[in-house]
Amino acid sequence: MTGGGDCPGLNAVIRAVTKTAITRYSMKVWGIEDGYLGLIEKRLRPLSFEDVSHILTLGGTILGTNNIVDPFKFAVRSGTAEPANSPQGKVRFKDVSDSCIQTLAEKQIDALVCIGGDGTMTSAAAFAKKGLTVVGVPKTIDNDLWGTDITFGFNTAVTTATEAIDKLRTTASSHHRVMVVEVMGRYAGWIALHSGVASGGDCILIPEIPYRIEKVCRFVQQRNSRGKSYSIVVVAEGAKESGGKMVVSKNVVFSPYPVRLGGIAYKLADQIERLTKLESRAVTLGHIQRGGTPTPYDRILATSFGFTAMELLVSGVKDRLVVLKDGKLSSVPLSQVAGKIKTVPKNHPLIKAARAVNTCFGD
Ligand code: F6P
Repeated sequence: MTGGGDCPGLNAVIRAVTKTAITRYSMKVWGIEDGYLGLIEKRLRPLSFEDVSHILTLGGTILGTNNIVDPFKFAVRSGTAEPANSPQGKVRFKDVSDSCIQTLAEKQIDALVCIGGDGTMTSAAAFAKKGLTVVGVPKTIDNDLWGTDITFGFNTAVTTATEAIDKLRTTASSHHRVMVVEVMGRYAGWIALHSGVASGGDCILIPEIPYRIEKVCRFVQQRNSRGKSYSIVVVAEGAKESGGKMVVSKNVVFSPYPVRLGGIAYKLADQIERLTKLESRAVTLGHIQRGGTPTPYDRILATSFGFTAMELLVSGVKDRLVVLKDGKLSSVPLSQVAGKIKTVPKNHPLIKAARAVNTCFGD
């Protein structure tokens, strides 16, 4: 099952799990469609060796995914057979996990491989607590999953963002503008930090280091007075002004995790233009960062993760997340990962290196 937001490398994991299970262990494999939603709606299909051939390099997920469904807090909408008695009178959340376990039992499925991020792993840990055998595979472009040094998909997202910022640099320089580029990452600044450093961003603003707008403006103005006629500001969608709030673009009411961030680049570009009188533009990279072909690094990582998930299952493990720690593949209990996220430490070596080359973090 692939859960949460899609991400380059999902198909590479599906392929590795399925091929290892079939060729090495003569197992039968089922694919669950659209994440936990497919499990709730009993939409499962057998996966053959041929079904997963030629998908290594394909972005997205052949199984489909979903980032608004949690079987332990499943939204029941008004107007359906179920009554709606939430405070808003529109939606209430129901635990449907027992019927999911029943569905797996009916199909004689002994173990679940959950490929996902923190939301998916929190539910996976809860299923494991109920006795299901579950192995998690760490996915997300945000790289914010606790317990692993890296998730697959992150390298591709950073590559995509870096290429985009490289392109924006030439137009910023031609027009002598400040270009504010917003990247994804939710409450963590990993994508902004890595793509910002890789593209030589002049300012990098991340959620972990609240910024002061005066500092950002002064930095941009100083560059200007030194003859640098343009600046690149890379901002994480979750960045916020010191004492301020994150910018929310949408509330997904049927989701147990309703907040969607986005829009800070527009706010920042307006502020910078008003306060510095330098022409500024905002660009939001958005879902482009989640799409497309995985990089070779992510294909290799996803294949290694998928293979390791199967090896763990066969060794009798019942409740683990595959991780990469200090360059080595290993695993941690799912219960340790549930409900946590991994943010960028303020003293991260890359922040130190960026500061050394005069990158401004707005603090
Ligand atoms: O977790 C992946 C991610 O792309 C985040 O970076 C972003 O905040 C969120 O998902 C966007 O979610 P949606 O696809 O629902 O807009």
